[in-house]
Amino acid sequence: MKILAIHGSPRTMQSSTRKLASFVLAGAAEAGAETEIVDLADLRIVPCTACDACAINGICVNDDDVAGLVARMKEADAVVFGSPVYIDNVSGQMKVFFDRLADAIHYQQLAGKYGCSVATTAESGGDEVVAYQNHVLNYLGAVAVGGISVALGAKPSALAEAEPAARALGKKLAAAVRDGYRDPAQEAAIADNRSYFAAIVRENQDFRPEEYGRWEKAGWL
Ligand SMILES: Cc1cc2nc3c(=O)[nH]c(=O)nc-3n(C[C@H](O)[C@H](O)[C@H](O)COP(=O)(O)O)c2cc1C
Repeated sequence: MKILAIHGSPRTMQSSTRKLASFVLAGAAEAGAETEIVDLADLRIVPCTACDACAINGICVNDDDVAGLVARMKEADAVVFGSPVYIDNVSGQMKVFFDRLADAIHYQQLAGKYGCSVATTAESGGDEVVAYQNHVLNYLGAVAVGGISVALGAKPSALAEAEPAARALGKKLAAAVRDGYRDPAQEAAIADNRSYFAAIVRENQDFRPEEYGRWEKAGWL
């Protein structure tokens, strides 16, 4: 079982968000998962320019690190998203990455997988950023098993104190991969998204026959 964490703090090894995501991975590793963490700030990720070229063949005109990272997400059984709160939202690094996932979202590249999200903040926006990242997991077709945000402004020790809960979240994620995890509300939202994206898959069936075949086989068309 492979679990991949991706975080959007530019502070890389100094990042509190990275540390929180690492606690989640440590819990998952205790439950038998093989884990990996990716610092988006170490990658070259060009912002989406809405050229729509990816709609034709799934390939972005920018030959940067996104395609490789999407391939790693597809190889994983579960994905953990992490971001610091920047102006009550995800960091720019995270948002630029998310914008590049439009094609992966349209074609539901993480369908059948699980995920969870983490965020750190000084004070505000932690829960909202966790909810947003889990929403992106749903957009990709994955079911989120939970999330954790930690506010560090008034209490720097809160990060260490969050370790047991973060490890428990990692264990829950590994258990979801192993045994399954049902969430009717998320499943309904994902099914709604799929029926909307089905029009795109049908429209592009001549350009993307493999994707069309995958969707047809899954009974999503
Ligand atoms: C550009 C920027 C914007 C920020 N915006 C907020 C904010 O809106 N609310 C807040 O409480 N903290 C804000 N912070 C503080 C960070 O969310 C906080 O320090 C976080 O734990 C940093 O995580 P990291 O160590 O993983 O980078 C901001 C920090 C920066 C650099």
